[in-house]
Amino acid sequence: MIILEMKNITAGYTPEVDILHKVGISVNKGDIVSIIGPNGAGKSTLLKSIFGLLKPKEGKVLLRDKDITGLKPNRIAQNGVSYVPQVNNVFPSLTILENLEMGAFIRKDDYSKQMADIFELFPVLKERKDDKAGHLSGGQRQMVAMGRALMLNPEVLLLDEPSAGLAPIFVSSIFEKIREINATGVTIIIVEQNAREALKMSSHGYVLAMGKNVLDDEGKALLANEEVGRLYLGG
Ligand SMILES: Nc1ncnc2c1ncn2[C@@H]1O[C@H](COP(=O)(O)OP(=O)(O)OP(=O)(O)O)[C@@H](O)[C@H]1O
Ligand SMILES: [Mg+2]
Repeated sequence: MIILEMKNITAGYTPEVDILHKVGISVNKGDIVSIIGPNGAGKSTLLKSIFGLLKPKEGKVLLRDKDITGLKPNRIAQNGVSYVPQVNNVFPSLTILENLEMGAFIRKDDYSKQMADIFELFPVLKERKDDKAGHLSGGQRQMVAMGRALMLNPEVLLLDEPSAGLAPIFVSSIFEKIREINATGVTIIIVEQNAREALKMSSHGYVLAMGKNVLDDEGKALLANEEVGRLYLGG
C-alpha cells in the first residue's frame, strides 16, 4: 500500500528559480526509502517540500491519498508526518526533556507512553534528561532530534542526513536505531551521505541529480549498479 507519494513536484526558494523539476517518489507503508544524489541535488529541498516548508509551484504530495500539498508544517505533522532537519535540529539551551516536550506541542492528549518508548529506544536520553541539549555529543543530539520527531507518533518519518558529522561508532548506532524505529511500523524516508549504508536497509532508493529524478530501483539493485556506484556512491 502506498502511504506517501510526490507527483510532478516543481519547487524552489524564489519565484524565478526552480530547484526541483517534476520530481516524483512513491513510498510503500512500512518501508525505508533512500533519496541519494550529489551535493546540491535537491535532496533536502525534496524533504522540505513534503513537510510544507516549501510550497510546491506545481505537482502534488499525497499522504494516504489525501492531498497535503502546500499545507503548513504543523498541519502536515498532525496528519502523521514528522521531520528531522539536516541542521539546527535541537534547541541547545533547553534540556533533553524540554526538547522532547517541544516535539509534542501540538498534542493535546497524554504523551507519557510515547516519552517512555523514546527513553526505551534511547536510554542515554533518559539518563541525561535534565542536561542541556547543547552539552551533548553530536550522536546524542541526533538522538534528541529523532526522539523529538517521534513524540508525535508519526506514520512517516523524514530524516535528513542523520549520520552527518558523527564518529563511525555513532554512525552505526544511529543506523541501528533507524532500523528499530522502522521495525515498530514507522515508514522512513531518509537522505544520507552515507548512501551505501542507507541503501542496505532500504527497500527502494531514488537517485536525484540537479533537481531531477535520474533513476529509482530496489535498494540492493542500486547497490549492485556499477554506474550508480561510480557516480553516486563514491566508487
Ligand atoms: N534556503 C535556500 N534558499 C535558496 N536556495 C537554497 C536554499 N536551500 C538550498 N538552496 C539551493 O537549492 C539547491 C539544492 O539544495 P539542497 O539543500 O536541497 O541540496 P541537497 O541535495 O540536500 O545537498 P547536500 O547534499 O549538500 O545537503 C542548491 O543549489 C542550494 O544552493
Ligand atoms: Mg541536504
